[in-house]
Amino acid sequence: MKLAPSPVADRPAGHTAAGGGGGVAASTRPVAVVGASGALGFGLAVRLGQAGTPVTIGSRDPVRAADTVERARRVAPHGSFSGRENSSAVRDAGAVILSVPLHSQPEILDALRPALRPGQLLIDATVPLAAVVNGHPTRTLGLWQGSAAQQALEMVPDGVRVVSALHTVCAGSLCNLDHRLDQDVLLCGDSRADKREAASLIERIEGLRCVDCGPLEMARVTESLTALLIAVKTHHGAHYPGIRLTGLPDALWE
Ligand SMILES: NC(=O)c1ccc[n+]([C@@H]2O[C@H](COP(=O)([O-])OP(=O)(O)OC[C@H]3O[C@@H](n4cnc5c(N)ncnc54)[C@H](OP(=O)(O)O)[C@@H]3O)[C@@H](O)[C@H]2O)c1
Repeated sequence: MKLAPSPVADRPAGHTAAGGGGGVAASTRPVAVVGASGALGFGLAVRLGQAGTPVTIGSRDPVRAADTVERARRVAPHGSFSGRENSSAVRDAGAVILSVPLHSQPEILDALRPALRPGQLLIDATVPLAAVVNGHPTRTLGLWQGSAAQQALEMVPDGVRVVSALHTVCAGSLCNLDHRLDQDVLLCGDSRADKREAASLIERIEGLRCVDCGPLEMARVTESLTALLIAVKTHHGAHYPGIRLTGLPDALWE
């Protein structure tokens, strides 16, 4: 079952931004970041908080969630942060960002099933890096479903909309608010409207441009780019390598 999108985010649109209509009132619902005590989730939480988006920091442990809120407030003092156990965080959220290691993704989604509602948008950032099974960090694991995002789609309740994104954004670059972001975020999903909604949220973070990369099955490619960037980082000693696609039109979300 697919429901009409319930926008979690709109902002005055730039010429490439996904926010579309410009100046549409933002939803008051917070964005839940599951795994925000970790590197990527924390970076996303502080950047979204800094951009004026209310963020609920989800953790398996409410104490760790509260500690992470304190950390986030130190980094982004003007942000609006609250901390909850994952299910509670997800229940009240308009959109959910899932930022957990591959090996815990099924367990976490299983625990979240009663909390996830039809119509919610789940942005999955999971990367099937071989490192999760002590493998080489520049190798990925094959998943029966094709990608971590497709695995997520298989596990969420009917009506939860899954978009795959954020695999090529380095956690360190997000956590360091002095670092000027200037890169693309590759989005995969089976609904253009869902991707637009995800893009309107992600593009609240200054310096991130979202690019529609096709259906969710393309996530098998975009997820593997994390391994590529880890290799590039190793070879070149680059702090925060990212991806920038060229030759695209100005307006990506018309
Ligand atoms: N780090 C990056 O730069 C980056 C970039 C792109 C994509 N990714 C992908 O994004 C996801 C999150 O990456 P990350 O580097 O933020 O991961 P991380 O720091 O290892 O973990 C993120 C959070 O996941 C939660 N978690 C749930 N089950 C867990 C388990 N069994 N073991 C450890 N933590 C568990 C933890 O939060 P609680 O304990 O509070 O529940 C933890 O803080 C991964 O799939 C990664 O491949 C990472």
